[in-house]
Amino acid sequence: MPKIIVLAGDGIGPEIVAEAVKILDCVADRFEIDLQTEEALVGGAAYDATGHPLPPETLELCRNSDAVLLGAVGGPRYDAIEPPELRPERGALLPLRKHLGLYANLRPAILYPVLAGASSLRADLVTEGLDILVVRELTGGLYFGQPKENKNGRAVDTCVYTKPEIERIAHRAFLAARSRSKRLCSVDKANVLETSRLWRATVHEVAEQYPDVELSDMLVDNCAMQLVRDPRQFDVIVTENLFGDILSDEAAMLTGSLGMLPSASLGQGTFGLYEPCHGSAPDIAGKGVANPLATILSAAMLLRYSLDCEDAAAAVEQAVADVLADGLRTPDIAAAGEATVGTREMGEAVLDALTMDMARD
Ligand code: IPM
Ligand code: MG
Repeated sequence: MPKIIVLAGDGIGPEIVAEAVKILDCVADRFEIDLQTEEALVGGAAYDATGHPLPPETLELCRNSDAVLLGAVGGPRYDAIEPPELRPERGALLPLRKHLGLYANLRPAILYPVLAGASSLRADLVTEGLDILVVRELTGGLYFGQPKENKNGRAVDTCVYTKPEIERIAHRAFLAARSRSKRLCSVDKANVLETSRLWRATVHEVAEQYPDVELSDMLVDNCAMQLVRDPRQFDVIVTENLFGDILSDEAAMLTGSLGMLPSASLGQGTFGLYEPCHGSAPDIAGKGVANPLATILSAAMLLRYSLDCEDAAAAVEQAVADVLADGLRTPDIAAAGEATVGTREMGEAVLDALTMDMARD
C-alpha cells in the first residue's frame, strides 16, 4: 500500500495542502489506489512543538514512505532563530532534500492559454501558452558547499560540483527532453565560474549518449533575459542549484503566478518529494485566499512519478485546466476587475471537475 507523508508546514501550507489531500483521496478512490496518508510536523510548526524544524521522527517517516507532499516552511517569526541551522529553510527544507538524496528538481512552468492575461508578458508573446520544464540540480552548489560561515565581518559560501553530480542531473534532463520536444538548453556561467566550466564539459559528454536531443548552452544572465524576451524558444532547461532557483521563479511569473508552479524532487528510485515552488506567503496566511493549484498540480506529479499512476495524474491536470477554463480565479491569477474565489472554493471546484470528468469517461 503506497504511503504518503503529508508535511503541511507553515503559513499558507496547511490551507493549500488540505485541498491537495482531498484531491488525492478522490483519485485514489476512483483509480483504486490503496493510498495511506500520514501527517507529520515540519518547519516552524515543528520547531514550535519540538525545538527542531525537522524532527528525527519526521525524517524517519519520510524515509519509510513512497512519497512526501509538502506545503511550505518558514515565516518572519522564524527568520531570526539562532543558530541559523534551526531556521525552517536551512534546518528542514535543505536537509530533507539532502538526506533523501533528491538531486533532481523538476519545475514545469505551464501557461494555460486562458491565463495569458495574468502573465507578466505582453499578450502577443504568450497567446499560445507556454510549456517550459526547468530541471534544477538540488543537492549541490552554493547551498551545500563547505566552508559556509559568517564571522568577523567576512562571509563565505562555497560552490562545489563533482562530475558524477553533474552527470546524473544531465541524464535526467536529457531523458525529460527526449520525452518532449527533444531540445535541451544547459544554463551556466562558464565565462566566469570553474564549476560552470566542469558543468558544460560534462553535459556535453553526456550528450553523446543522446544524439536525438539537440543540446544548446546559454549563460545564465542571457537566459534570464531570453526568458522574458522570447520564452517560447525554451523547452527543457537544465541548470545548477542557485541558477535553477532564480530562473524557476522567473519562469513561474511568465505563467501568471508563482501560485501555479508545482515541483517534483526526485532521487535514484521512484521516491519523491512534491511541493509548490512558492513559499509560505505569511502575508496571506490564514485568510483563505491562497492559490492551491500549485500544490494540487504537485500532487498530480506525485501520482505520475512516485506512484506510476499516469491516468490519475492526467485526470487531476485536466480538472485544473477545466476550472481555469470555467473562469475560476484566485486573486493571484485574476485580471483586474475579475471576480475571485478563495482557496477552498478553488479546491472544491477542482474536485467537482474531477468527479464530473470521471463520470463522463
Ligand atoms: C525554492 C525555495 C527554497 C530554495 C528556499 C525556501 C530555501 O526558494 O524551493 O525554490 O531556495 O530552494
Ligand atoms: Mg526558490
